Amino acid sequence: MATVFAFVNFLVFCMTAQSAPRPEVIDLGYGLDDKTQFWPGTQRFNVTLELRVKNKSGIPWLAMNTFETSDHIGTHVDAPFHFNEKGWKIGEIPLHRFMVRGVLIDVSNKVKGNNDFVLEREDIKEWESQHGIIPDESIVLFRFGWSSRYYDNRTAYFGFGNSNSSIMNYPSLSKDAAKYIVECGNVFGVGVDTPSLDPGKVVSGEAHQTLLGAQIFGIENLNLENDALPATGFMLHVLPMKITHGTGAPCRVIAFLGHRVRRL
Ligand SMILES: *[C@@H]1O[C@H](CO)[C@@H](O)[C@H](O)[C@H]1NC(C)=O
Ligand SMILES: *[C@@H]1O[C@H](CO)[C@@H](O)[C@H](O)[C@H]1NC(C)=O
Ligand SMILES: *[C@@H]1O[C@H](CO)[C@@H](O)[C@H](O)[C@H]1NC(C)=O
Ligand SMILES: *[C@@H]1O[C@H](CO)[C@@H](O)[C@H](O)[C@H]1NC(C)=O
Ligand SMILES: [Zn+2]
Repeated sequence: MATVFAFVNFLVFCMTAQSAPRPEVIDLGYGLDDKTQFWPGTQRFNVTLELRVKNKSGIPWLAMNTFETSDHIGTHVDAPFHFNEKGWKIGEIPLHRFMVRGVLIDVSNKVKGNNDFVLEREDIKEWESQHGIIPDESIVLFRFGWSSRYYDNRTAYFGFGNSNSSIMNYPSLSKDAAKYIVECGNVFGVGVDTPSLDPGKVVSGEAHQTLLGAQIFGIENLNLENDALPATGFMLHVLPMKITHGTGAPCRVIAFLGHRVRRL
């Protein structure tokens, strides 16, 4: 009898396991094409259709492309080496740092489209008072509500001045906010839905220097339009193209919702 019960329990276990919902997957990156945002003055993403052959040598169809690009293009990882001479290049960042839990600090209701907004330490502490401290070995994402401008209007996305296009203005992190992330002790990466870890008007890259100086990688031009992404309780896979000596690399960023957050 006990054996029968054990067997029934086993069946119930199997059925439950099978009917468990598939984790929801959210793409947090943009595609690479001729609309891809590029840093002013750097090589934009440029595809040449190299080969299009129909029905030749017994091959019905054959296609190949060539592309050239800055290593900081579209949704991309900033390797520590970008601002830290002794920092990791893309190929040197330990792989496990790209597959960890994520948290989302959403300040879009404070930004309200204001190009001058700068995120401060207090904004992070306020989030922590509601959601708990930033977990160890995590990637911290910041939503400024900037993604809606990504495809629309390059002038609006970068906040270019009307008379002088070398002046930019969009929100991001203050140096002190970056310092706070470093002080957290063991954050692996920081991502933003704007062109840079530093606000557009900060030309000395203070947040970059602070974060990358501590071997914390950056993710820029994230697509954070999807409202389904919660504040906590999701996993991230950040997969930069494995450019061995890259100072940065275009990447896929994927959030996994609805399954137990665990250490990989
Ligand atoms: C794109 O690449 C092609 C082929 O190398 C080149 O002729 C063209 O000028 C490039 N365009 C841009 C915008 O970089
Ligand atoms: C492909 O090429 C062969 C040889 O030239 C020809 O006989 C055949 O009709 C072609 N097929 C198509 C689908 O064009
Ligand atoms: C793009 O944004 C700028 C700055 O917000 C604005 O002045 C301009 O009219 C916009 N252009 C288009 C085509 O929407
Ligand atoms: C544009 O801004 C840059 C950086 O502040 C400055 O060096 C340059 O002189 C300005 N150009 C014009 C035409 O105002
Ligand atoms: Zn970058």
